[in-house]
This record gives sequence, structure tokens and C-alpha cells, in this order.
Amino acid sequence: MIEIKKNIFWNGIKDYDLRSFHGHEMSTHHGSTYNSFLIKDEKIALVDTVWDLHSEEFIRSLKENVGIENIDYIIVNHMEPDHAGCIELLMDINPKIEIYCTAAGEKIIKKYFNRDDWKINTVKTGDKLSLGEYELTFVEMKMIHWPESMLVYIEKAKLLLSNDAFGQHYAAGVMFDDEADTCVMNYEALKYYANILTPFNVLIKKKLDEIAAMNLDIDMIAPSHGVIWRSRVQDILDFYSEWCNNTNDGSVVIIYDTLYGSTKKMAEEISKPFLKAGIPYKMYNAAITDGSDLIADVFSAKLVVVGSPTVHNGMLTTVDQVLARMKHLKFKNKIGAAFGSYGWSGEATKDIDESLNKMGITTVIEPISVKYNLSPEELKMCYEFGEKLVAEVQE
Ligand code: FEO
Repeated sequence: MIEIKKNIFWNGIKDYDLRSFHGHEMSTHHGSTYNSFLIKDEKIALVDTVWDLHSEEFIRSLKENVGIENIDYIIVNHMEPDHAGCIELLMDINPKIEIYCTAAGEKIIKKYFNRDDWKINTVKTGDKLSLGEYELTFVEMKMIHWPESMLVYIEKAKLLLSNDAFGQHYAAGVMFDDEADTCVMNYEALKYYANILTPFNVLIKKKLDEIAAMNLDIDMIAPSHGVIWRSRVQDILDFYSEWCNNTNDGSVVIIYDTLYGSTKKMAEEISKPFLKAGIPYKMYNAAITDGSDLIADVFSAKLVVVGSPTVHNGMLTTVDQVLARMKHLKFKNKIGAAFGSYGWSGEATKDIDESLNKMGITTVIEPISVKYNLSPEELKMCYEFGEKLVAEVQE
């Protein structure tokens, strides 16, 4: 256990080996952590647990440092199993523990555990629970990112226990932001937001406004994943304010896959005017690029250019999968363009164009297609396509 504030302890797990999360949807190149917090006051409260894959270490630490029979409350900020995985184990050891969660949380607890012998107290935004010296204030975080999500504010500690919000999949060998690698931390926070929170932008904006109006004095934000913010609290609040507004940094992402190199050649020609104009672009072969890394770059981009050869009447499945991820995340305020090569029917380019427009990424130029390989004129066409896109990005 690590004391992060007087009598408030981190009792989490650092999962250095984790390389994918949500099944295999999201890569976690820097591992992750499951942050659980123990508050030792007149009453003893545990805020969130950890994934039951790590129950042995988690339970052992609680036994050694507090005694599970001494825990009075479990605060369930979120029922996703990476945080709720050890509730039943704890309740079986000490059935007198009282659970605090939202009304939606109670329903999910009952569905997950099918237990009606637990004492569950439901709370709403603004409700408080005194532990003695410390008082917990609950703030509902509905659909950020589950229906029951919640966070806890502890006024006297100036501490926000924010659960998934402001988190990063980053198992650093340190506890706090001033000790961690800032670039990794910022990138992992963005990647987390891009891949998990983007669909909830409108709700996040409203919630940030609501929290700002509560005038909470916060000098530490401890999320349920990753490193704790204490020296850059305002940075992460500012990042979230920016990200939930569908902002972009004016950059470009070019995504393609290729069979024998023609679509790749098109991508390379299209990219050249961006290089010349000094507009940052990233180019990825969808077949060999991690999908969630790619999404992190799409999240920041203004323009997304997507290309595929036509195979079996459509685009390559690798490109289709990237478009599916983008569609599910409901990106806004981006522009797009489509290109591709073909042998005879050539549906891929049209399909990409349609897919981008349907998901709300308006294509700003007619798609271009090349049959088999590129003639000098077609190379020029691709370059000019890139030049027109440069003009669109600069607008
Ligand atoms: Fe970290 Fe939504 O669970």
C-alpha cells in the first residue's frame, strides 16, 4: 500500500504484462494499473476493487494492511470487472460491509452477482458519506462510460477519485505525474479517451461544466488506471475540456492497405504535398498497424484519407475494420477523402467514400481510382489530389 494523502492509501495492482484491454480491442503497450483506494478513518472505506485476475495479491494486501473484517464500506464507482472483480470475494469474507453505488450500479451489481443478501446504499450527485475526519461526496458520471459510473470527491483531502475518467493504461514504476514520463502519460491519456470516451463527448462536456460549477478544490486526481495527477491536475482537466469539444490539431492521417503496391504508391504520392506544405501527416498500412494506436491519431486529425484496392467487390477487410472502429466512435468535425486501385470492378473507393460520409466524416473531394498500376499521368493525378487536400486542411 502507498499513502497518497493522509490515511488514504493506494491498494492497486500494477499490471506490467498487460498488452491488450477490452479483450483485444485496445493495445496497452505500457501495461495498465487497477487503482483501488483504502481510506482509514473512523470508518474504513475501500473505493473500487481490482480485476479478479489479481485477487490474490489484492486480498493479501488488504488482509495485511487493514484486515478485511475491519472494512465498513465498499464504494463501487464502476461495475466493469476490471474494478469490480473482487467485490464478491470481499463480501464473502465480511458480509457486514455496506456497498455504496448509484441506483444504476445497484441493478448491475445484482445482475453480475445475483446476490440479495448484501446491504447496498444508493447515492446521487451531491450525497455525502462521513467517515469521521473525511467526508465523501458522490458525483454521478452516467454514461461516462457506463450507466452507473460515479466518482468520489474528498474535500478535506482535495482529492478526486475519478475512476476511469482521466485515466491512462500506463503501469509506470512511479505513483505520481511529476515522477512519470510526461509524453507517455499524455499519450496514454489521449489514447484512452480516443478509444473509450469519444462517443460520450457531449455528456463529458456537460459533466465537466457541472463539476466546475461545484467549485471543488482539487489538488489531486487519482483515476482507476495509471498514474495519479498531482502536479498537472489542470493539464488533464484542460485536455478533457479540449477533447470533448471534437477539436483537432490540423494533422492528417493516411490509411491504406495494398495487394501489390499500387494503392501504397497512391498513398505515397498523395502524401508528398503535405510534406512540402509542412502539414504533419501520419501514414499507416492498416494491415500491420495496431487499430487502437491508429484511432489515437485519427482522434487528433483534421483530415483522414483512406485507400484500398478492390478485392471481391469491396475494400480489404483490414481497411473495413478501421472504418468500423471510426464509425463506432462517432468522430465529429473531421474531413475525409478516399482513393484506391482496382483491376476491373473497383467498388472499394466508392464504398470508402460512402462509409466516411455515412459516419459523419464529409469527403471534400471526389475519390480517385487507378486501374492496375500507375502511369505517369496517374502519379500526377495522385499528387494533385494531395495538393487539393492540402488546400482543404489549410482552409
Ligand atoms: Fe476501467 Fe470502464 O473500466
